[in-house]
Amino acid sequence: MIFEQIATGGCQSYLVGCEKTSAGALIDPEASQVDRYLALAARDGLRIRFVIDTHTHADHFSASRQLAEQLGALSVMHRASPAPGVQMRVEDGEMIVLGQLRLQVLHTPGHTVDSMCLVCEDRVFTGDTLLIGGTGRTDLPTGDPEALFESLFGRLLRLDPALKVYPAHDYKGRSHSTLGDELATNPRLQQRDKAAFVQMMRQLDLSMPTHLTEALRTNMSGGKTVAQMLAEASASVPFMAMAELLSRVQAAPTELIVLDVRERDAYEAGHIPGARLLPRGQLELRVNAELPDPTARIVTCCEFGRISTLAAATLRSMGFQRVAALDGGMKAWLEAGYPVSAGPGA
Ligand SMILES: [Fe+2]
Repeated sequence: MIFEQIATGGCQSYLVGCEKTSAGALIDPEASQVDRYLALAARDGLRIRFVIDTHTHADHFSASRQLAEQLGALSVMHRASPAPGVQMRVEDGEMIVLGQLRLQVLHTPGHTVDSMCLVCEDRVFTGDTLLIGGTGRTDLPTGDPEALFESLFGRLLRLDPALKVYPAHDYKGRSHSTLGDELATNPRLQQRDKAAFVQMMRQLDLSMPTHLTEALRTNMSGGKTVAQMLAEASASVPFMAMAELLSRVQAAPTELIVLDVRERDAYEAGHIPGARLLPRGQLELRVNAELPDPTARIVTCCEFGRISTLAAATLRSMGFQRVAALDGGMKAWLEAGYPVSAGPGA
């Protein structure tokens, strides 16, 4: 078995592959690590056939859909998953065949209704059903402590105790444990009475994961995260450095349009000398009147350099082919001690 474990903060992803056939699968890929997964697969000589999420993640952004599209691989989730773009839905008792490897599906609801564990040779990918020294929480959407108890004690923990446990999370840098170790030492598993287990889970009172709503929104719909929108916009426009813009504005102020896309109050408080105001929210409404010449050279700017990037991408997609975004924003411009004008401006 070819095996790679990729940690991203507390999230764990896995690349598994068959040495004989070079067929590979990615388990729980995270959006920020796409290049790394592809590089590892290339280094290991694997063709990724399946991109699998063990459940609907509430705490990280899944790269499954993007990778499946990019690689011509199948995205895989349990049948109960609400995500619409899943290409192969699997159920308990089925196997995902990876050359000579077999990933055996165990439906283990509890953390979420669509949670599954995948058994492969000497190991089990437990998703958030079982963590090292913990279990997945049951207080997020579709969580169910009673179902988790049954999934753990009725299914997962009845497997061979020597099976290695590879979870979807570990916040302490550990790579794996075994089912036997977890049964013996995992504090949550010492509660073997169902009612007491359920009560313990209900009383955990955990803080909500950061990005909860955005992760659920994008993972359940296949939509884009804000970071993804920005990354795509950044990859589609050129940028101009602040010092470069300053020297050009000072040398030949009429040769380019500095387009400030913030709101009026921010603009009036201080803008790049000569900059014109066209708030991002009014861009499409006023673009034809404000920017009649599609060959004009334009540099967009905003407070932090993010909205101006989106604005530049929008303008480019409208046919303004000489639009760049300022590399930086008014905050950095002011910190650099560059000149500003105040008031209603041009
Ligand atoms: Fe999770």
